[in-house]
Amino acid sequence: MIKATDISAEQKYANVRKPLSEASTLPGWCYSDSRFFEREQSTIFNQCWHFVGRADEIKSVGDYLIYDSPQGSLIVMRSDSGVINAFRNACRHRGTRLLNETGSTQRIVCPYHSWVYGNDGSLLRAPGMIETKGFKVESCHLTAVRLESWAGFLFASYLDNGPSLSAWLGDMPEYFRRYSGAEFECVRRKKFTVRCNWKFLIENALETYHTGTVHRASLGKQQSEIIPTTGNWLCLRVFVDGKDSVSVLSSSDDSFPIYPNLEGEERTSTYFTNILPCTQFVFAPDAMWWLAINPVSADETTLEVGSCFPTQNRMIEAFDRISKAYFDRLDMATPEDNAICEAQHLGNLSDLGHQGRFSAEEALVHKLANWVLDQTLRSGA
Ligand code: FES
Ligand SMILES: [Fe+2]
Repeated sequence: MIKATDISAEQKYANVRKPLSEASTLPGWCYSDSRFFEREQSTIFNQCWHFVGRADEIKSVGDYLIYDSPQGSLIVMRSDSGVINAFRNACRHRGTRLLNETGSTQRIVCPYHSWVYGNDGSLLRAPGMIETKGFKVESCHLTAVRLESWAGFLFASYLDNGPSLSAWLGDMPEYFRRYSGAEFECVRRKKFTVRCNWKFLIENALETYHTGTVHRASLGKQQSEIIPTTGNWLCLRVFVDGKDSVSVLSSSDDSFPIYPNLEGEERTSTYFTNILPCTQFVFAPDAMWWLAINPVSADETTLEVGSCFPTQNRMIEAFDRISKAYFDRLDMATPEDNAICEAQHLGNLSDLGHQGRFSAEEALVHKLANWVLDQTLRSGA
C-alpha cells in the first residue's frame, strides 16, 4: 500500500547522489531485486575486467585454473610457449563443459565425444568428422576471451573491444609500483558461499566503521583514511597506532619482515583497494591478500580469499609457522564479515524500501553506491 510519506524510486536514487554528509544509502531493493541484479550484470559485469587469479598459480606449461561467473566459465591456461590464454570452457562441438577447478594437462579431451584440444586452445583431433562437409579442425579453436595482466595479477574481459586493463586500472599500478616488485606468490585460496548480495561484501571491505564491533574480539578497532584515485578503483589506507601491519592478529608474535622497497607511510599502512566493481587487493607492508567477489544471484555470492607472499619470504625456513599467523587472521575475520553481511541481507529483505544514512567513515561505501548508479541508470543502459 502506498503511504503519503512514501517517496519515489527516483527521489531515493537522488538521495544517494547527495554529498556524503547529506546522502542516503542505496535503497534495500538494490540488494535483492532480480531486475536490478540483471541490470548490474549487463551494465557492469558484462563490461568490466574480471580478476581470475595469479600467473604464479599456473607456473608450468599445461597448468590451468577455472574462472566461473554469470558471463561464462573460462579456462585460464599456460601454453607451450609460456603464454597464458583464456578460453570459454565449452567444447566447440556441442558445447560440453571441458574442465573443472584447477589442474595440469597437455591435452584437453572433451568428455562427450573425445575431441582433443592443445594447451593453446587449438583443436587437434575430432574423430568421426570426415563425412561432415566443410568441417575444418583449424576453424574450431576454443573461443578466446581477452586476458591481460598487471604484476602477475590476471584479468579477463568478455568484451572483444573494451578498454585495456591499464585504462581500467588508471593510476593503481603506479601507486603500488613498489609492491609489484615483490613478486608475490599465491600460496592459498579459500572459497566461501555467502548468502548475501555482492555489494554487501565489498561495501563491508571498504570501511573500518564496523571493525570495533564485528571484529571486537579479533582484529579490534582500526583507523582509516581515503586515498584519492583515478581510474576504476577505490582505496582506503588502514592503520592501527603502534602497529606496522594489520596482517596478523594482535595476539601473534609471528610476522614477516617489511618489504625493503617500501617508503614512508607504506611501511605502517595497509591499503584496502576495490578494483571496481568488486575485487579487493590488500597491500600490507609484509603480505598481500585478495578478495575475489563473484555474484551468483541477487542473494548469493561466492567469495574467494587468496593469500600472497613475496618469493623471498617463501624461502624462509620458518615460512609454514609464520604464514599460519596470517591464515589465522583471515580465518577468524572472514567468517565474521560474512556473517554480518548475511545478517544485513536478511534485514534488507524485511524492508525493501529501507534507505539509511552514512557515517563519515563510510565514504567509500557512498562512492561505490554512486558508481553502481552511474552504471545502472546511465541513459541507453
Ligand atoms: S561435445 Fe565435445 S566432443 Fe562432442
Ligand atoms: Fe571486517
